[in-house]
Amino acid sequence: MNVAVIGSGYVGLVTGACFSEFGVQVVCADKDADKVASLCRGTMPIYEPGLDDLVSRNVREGRLSFTADPPEAIRNGLVVFIAVGTPAAEDGSTNLDFIEAVSREIGQCMDGYKVVVTKSTVPVGTAKKVRKWIQEELNKRGSSAHFSVASNPEFLREGAAIGDFMRPDRVVIGTDDGDEQALAIIQDLYRPLFLNETPFVITNVATAELSKYAANAFLATKISFINEISILCERIGGDVQGVARAMGLDKRIGSKFLHAGPGYGGSCFPKDTLSAVHFARDLGIDFEIVEAAIRANTRQREHVTNKVRTALGGDVKGKTVSLLGLSFKPETDDVRDSPAIAIARSLVAEGATVRAFDPQAMNEAARAIPELVLCKDVYETCEGGDVLVIATEWNQFRMLDFARVKDLLNEPIMVDLRNIYRADAMNSAGFSYLSVGR
Ligand SMILES: NC(=O)c1ccc[n+]([C@@H]2O[C@H](COP(=O)([O-])OP(=O)(O)OC[C@H]3O[C@@H](n4cnc5c(N)ncnc54)[C@H](O)[C@@H]3O)[C@@H](O)[C@H]2O)c1
Repeated sequence: MNVAVIGSGYVGLVTGACFSEFGVQVVCADKDADKVASLCRGTMPIYEPGLDDLVSRNVREGRLSFTADPPEAIRNGLVVFIAVGTPAAEDGSTNLDFIEAVSREIGQCMDGYKVVVTKSTVPVGTAKKVRKWIQEELNKRGSSAHFSVASNPEFLREGAAIGDFMRPDRVVIGTDDGDEQALAIIQDLYRPLFLNETPFVITNVATAELSKYAANAFLATKISFINEISILCERIGGDVQGVARAMGLDKRIGSKFLHAGPGYGGSCFPKDTLSAVHFARDLGIDFEIVEAAIRANTRQREHVTNKVRTALGGDVKGKTVSLLGLSFKPETDDVRDSPAIAIARSLVAEGATVRAFDPQAMNEAARAIPELVLCKDVYETCEGGDVLVIATEWNQFRMLDFARVKDLLNEPIMVDLRNIYRADAMNSAGFSYLSVGR
């Protein structure tokens, strides 16, 4: 089977590489010619553990290729996955411009039956728009080509994307009622996972589209919930990790996504929660829980930034902050809506110098905040710092040489926004130590 994946970012590239690993022929297309040139040279445009090997093996074995000419990929594919970005618009709704552009391109160049599948996270009702955009272009050409539109939302996590794609908790496939042909083709594509007994949710398009938002909104709510508990803990002298453990051991609740910190970030939760609220509102429904989760997240970012201000005596102007971690979570170079970036941006705006290090996200962070002083490692970052802030819990930050850090800092103050250290250990090491909800 021939597959086209349009959009070769975090999702498209992983999707394409994993399908080629299943044994099908995949062409990944992207309009970003530099990205495609880099992929053709064998250089990954993003950091994702294991992707390099997976891509190079499948390219070598002739199952995976790249093009900067999406129509070439579309003409060739029986299944066309749309995996372009769906960023938030100013008002919180989803900007579907990239989806529309690809849909129209499909209509402009398809010459036989295609199954067009949205893998991008798109608001409920988008598949109908995709169908309309494709049909309009076909009509302009007087073409009677036949196509199906389906929804197959992606649930992978950056940093663990390949494992998530190859061994997902579930695969969701939404097709139009009665469109047996499209369903059979998509199921055939996922056959290796069927054989692995992966649960499949086979449903209609609207349910598939909504399931992705429901999952992300629920996880974001879980994070905001524990962050609110962390604020209560700070007031009462409680320990949020103890509360989270007590909650998480209850199998009805589960321990995942109960880590207090600087609030959720990344390329999905912030925009997907906003989008869910927005499309619910368009339907006349207040998505009240998610609205509250968003408000709590905004407050949490401000709350943890205040911790840094407090650690610096209230006024950050002229102070130096040593910041560890810039990506929104470990094992990725993605800084989109990263709490670390938001905090750094506030501190820079208030007149602080921010020295920073991240194992993978330095280039992206420098583009986001040109004023950052980029350092080559943890210890260079600590040089001359008035406070050390841990914003992302990369493993290499979990075992710092405290004596050396203390020597390098101007003041032995640490603000640990990921709760990776224990207060008693840090106090014994001579640090004044602040964390979240403890
Ligand atoms: N990143 C994640 O962890 C994740 C997880 C699940 C779902 N998603 C969803 O998947 C979608 C893609 O996210 P991403 O993180 O991979 O985005 P990304 O920005 O990394 O990649 C999108 C790619 O699409 C390309 N593109 C845009 N318009 C194009 C066009 N007309 N033709 C060809 N290429 C085009 C861009 O150049 C870019 O390379 C989004 O809807 C996102 O919400 C993301």
